[in-house]
Amino acid sequence: MNPNSSALPPHSAHPDPDANAPARKQDHIELAFRSQVGQAHLDARFDYEPLLAAHPTDPLPPLEFLGYSLAAPLWISSMTGGTQMAGTINHNLARACGEFGFGMGLGSCRSLLYANTYFDDFNVRPLLGKKVPLYANLGVAQVDKLLVNNELSVLTDLVGRLQADGLIVHVNPTQEWLQPEGDQLLRPPLAVLDELLARTSLSIIVKEVGQGFGPASMRALLQMPLAAVDFAAGGGTNFALLELLRSDPSRRDAYEPLSRVGHTAEEMMRQANQIAAELRASGTLRCQQLIISGGVKDFLDGYYLTASSTLPAIYGQASAFLRHAREGYEPLRQYVGLQLQGLAYARAYLRLRA
Ligand SMILES: Cc1cc2nc3c(=O)[nH]c(=O)nc-3n(C[C@H](O)[C@H](O)[C@H](O)COP(=O)(O)O)c2cc1C
Repeated sequence: MNPNSSALPPHSAHPDPDANAPARKQDHIELAFRSQVGQAHLDARFDYEPLLAAHPTDPLPPLEFLGYSLAAPLWISSMTGGTQMAGTINHNLARACGEFGFGMGLGSCRSLLYANTYFDDFNVRPLLGKKVPLYANLGVAQVDKLLVNNELSVLTDLVGRLQADGLIVHVNPTQEWLQPEGDQLLRPPLAVLDELLARTSLSIIVKEVGQGFGPASMRALLQMPLAAVDFAAGGGTNFALLELLRSDPSRRDAYEPLSRVGHTAEEMMRQANQIAAELRASGTLRCQQLIISGGVKDFLDGYYLTASSTLPAIYGQASAFLRHAREGYEPLRQYVGLQLQGLAYARAYLRLRA
């Protein structure tokens, strides 16, 4: 028997600092068997270094991107507009960007080119504030039409009305090919982008819509004077599949294999690293910023991909934000808060495995 134990009164005058302990210990016993994982469960991308940091309490370090100082390396990928629900979703997304300090790409602003009917759906700058980037968005087919019709002023006016910092051009030949009401691309997107960049001083970002870019396209993009390349890689929202679901059964059967074509964000990040090194060596690297997106599930994916990139990079998500933004601002706010805390934790304890 411990000789000192009789010195402790049976009920201490001090409140128990760990009053939950018995319930917690009971939980541990009951839940232990439901918490068994195999070795395959472990994330092979990281070394876990539990000795080297305290729990993070400071905000994430700010980062310069697209001419702004961002409070977090995140980006809301272009989504929607032109329906009542889209307006609410955009406004929720913009509020989150303003509150947490990261940027946003609008969904296709085609409906705003010649009319203001849906302007309110896209008018998010007042909610976003002036401290984070905002980009308008158009498909490459629309941009080509504006160029051919000598209507570049319509583009400049669009960006001005939205108080945006520039324009995202989405290059989506697969989506247009499969979309029942899709546009025909009349010349290679590369030619459209070259002409656009020669004729405008707008800040331009280029993205796909969920199948990514192969190495030859990536090489061409990194040699252009773009503000950023947004991967919009495969592995998440698949617009080939989405358009086929809107299509008739015979087209669906014929073209379903096209939904399996594309590049993952990780594959693209490695290619971009290699291409950037080659272009840097030859003095032809002109685009120096990446938005790594497409199939980015969470902060761990985002941390891994941005930390592995040799070009300054942030990570973008579309469907993950959409899921919460649809439910209202509070669910979205909670989601974003948890993701940012998760990112701070990852930065403190996880190192990229060589
Ligand atoms: C509902 C919805 C609408 C979208 N609309 C656009 C669009 O108008 N323009 C665009 O460039 N990309 C659009 N995208 C594609 C996204 O920007 C993104 O590239 C793609 O969803 C892959 O990201 P994710 O896997 O995180 O969803 C849309 C995505 C979703 C889910």
